[in-house]
Amino acid sequence: MAVLIDGKALAAKVKAEVRLEVDALRAQGVEPGLAVVIVGDDPASRIYVNAKKKACEACNIRSFEYALPAGTAEGDLLALVAKLNADPQVSGILVQLPLPPQIDEGKVIAAVAPEKDVDAFHPVNVGRIMVGNYGFLPCTPAGCLELIDSAGVEIAGKRCVVIGRSNIVGKPMAMLLLHRHGTVTVCHSRTQNLAEIARGADILVAAVGKARFVTAEMVKEGAAVIDVGMNREDGKLCGDVDFEAVALKAGYITPVPGGVGPMTIAMLMKNTLRAAKGCVR
Ligand code: GUN
Repeated sequence: MAVLIDGKALAAKVKAEVRLEVDALRAQGVEPGLAVVIVGDDPASRIYVNAKKKACEACNIRSFEYALPAGTAEGDLLALVAKLNADPQVSGILVQLPLPPQIDEGKVIAAVAPEKDVDAFHPVNVGRIMVGNYGFLPCTPAGCLELIDSAGVEIAGKRCVVIGRSNIVGKPMAMLLLHRHGTVTVCHSRTQNLAEIARGADILVAAVGKARFVTAEMVKEGAAVIDVGMNREDGKLCGDVDFEAVALKAGYITPVPGGVGPMTIAMLMKNTLRAAKGCVR
């Protein structure tokens, strides 16, 4: 039976550390603030935004919410981003994705000032990740790495398989594992023999977006399995991994909920602190 990696407990520890630093910064007259922008009323996005605001409270970081209607014009969102870029009370800016179809996500991501881009989605920050000069941490991949580290699982020299090639998770995850000297393979919807490749992994990261996609047959005995999935089934949150069956075979596994999700938010708090300290220029 796999060892359960507790993301909720680890996230609480990280947030407590962030809070100590935030309090010290406040004592020097610097007040960290995170602007969270949500467009439309996607229920999942609303849940994430609320969780991010709650984490700000726990870390003593000010949060500013901007909830815009689903029909918001691209120009209006870009104008808000420009205003937040110029606002000294705002250390970090997060525009919750996905955005409605009339808005070009790439344009909005590129409009956020790189030094306030706490998601690390701006091409400048993506480029920094690529070369291993981390200004901001890519939140979900960095959270996965902390989960792996917390379990004492060695990455250097190990076979790492990432399933999913999104800009938010798959690609930066591969980079982080590579920088830690993992031997990394990225699988996706066109990959042939995916199950066979996954079975070779010492560390398997599932970021597919399909409930229970990773079955026990795709997992090596003793592997560390990190589940990034946030799928909704009959209103219940469900990961990309068939947890019950895979837990019998894996060495380590993260649950959903209570695994990667809370760590993503904890890393966002770390990035907001870094932004407020002026670490990223
Ligand atoms: N939508 C899903 N995940 C994320 C995330 O990490 N950041 C933002 N801004 N939107 C998301």
